[in-house]
Amino acid sequence: MSGIAEQACPGQFVEVGTGGATLLNKPISIAAIDRTAGTFSLVYKVVGSGTHAIASFKPGMDVKVLGPCGNGFGTIESGACLVGGGIGIPPMHFLAQEHQAAAGFSVILGAGTADDIVLKEEFTQVLGAEPYIATDDGTAGHHGTTVDLLDSLFKTDPVPVYACGPVAMLSSIAERCRQADVPSYVCLEAYMGCGIGICVGCVIPTVRGMERVCAEGPVFSGSDVLWSEF
Ligand SMILES: Cc1cc2nc3c(=O)[nH]c(=O)nc-3n(C[C@H](O)[C@H](O)[C@H](O)COP(=O)(O)OP(=O)(O)OC[C@H]3O[C@@H](n4cnc5c(N)ncnc54)[C@H](O)[C@@H]3O)c2cc1C
Ligand code: FES
Repeated sequence: MSGIAEQACPGQFVEVGTGGATLLNKPISIAAIDRTAGTFSLVYKVVGSGTHAIASFKPGMDVKVLGPCGNGFGTIESGACLVGGGIGIPPMHFLAQEHQAAAGFSVILGAGTADDIVLKEEFTQVLGAEPYIATDDGTAGHHGTTVDLLDSLFKTDPVPVYACGPVAMLSSIAERCRQADVPSYVCLEAYMGCGIGICVGCVIPTVRGMERVCAEGPVFSGSDVLWSEF
């Protein structure tokens, strides 16, 4: 495990074995790292048999974890905005954590409802200020989407955007950034099979042809993804 904590960069994920509950390992983004302690944190939502099995793990159990997988984000540009939607919030926390010394970035978090906004306090600690929040049902922050909040920001200050979340959110962000002529970097949490580049079960259309989210990604330049063919 300590190898993962030493090597991982934000946007990368690990493949977690479910102890036989599912045929395939489950990809989960790294949410935080303590490099001194040699530990890393995962934050996940229980949706089916794999994540249910992971949630039943007990302290001290042997767990199969493969990683770090994928390419990850590079360094973030000054003044950037980080956007996390739903289960896309955890990797953005790792990105914020790694770059907190390079102050000057803002954070927008969104989800269906307030309970699904994870890591809000942790982001506040990193930023020294609360992140902007949007919820579909209006139970926290802005009643609407992360893209609404990004639109408000872009009216005065279009900045590079780093984002992870649902495809519809990422596609809208990439389009806003294209129109404003600023870069976007999107972390795609596509359905995966093997998670290690063999099965081609995770390919997406890009300007370079079909590419594997688990190997060439999960982070892509927003302008490289052919969103209309997704
Ligand atoms: C690179 C990557 C990073 C991820 N990081 C995280 C994370 O940090 N935290 C987290 O909670 N989840 C994350 N996920 C999603 C997580 O892997 C899936 O939710 C998990 O595989 C579901 O497995 P399951 O066996 O519990 O459910 P399944 O039985 O496989 O699925 C249950 C339901 O969830 C849907 N579903 C499954 N996978 C996805 C997906 N990738 N996108 C949308 N819907 C899906 C299925 O259609 C089904 O309706 C990530 C996925 C990828 C590819
Ligand atoms: S999940 Fe098998 S190649 Fe990406």
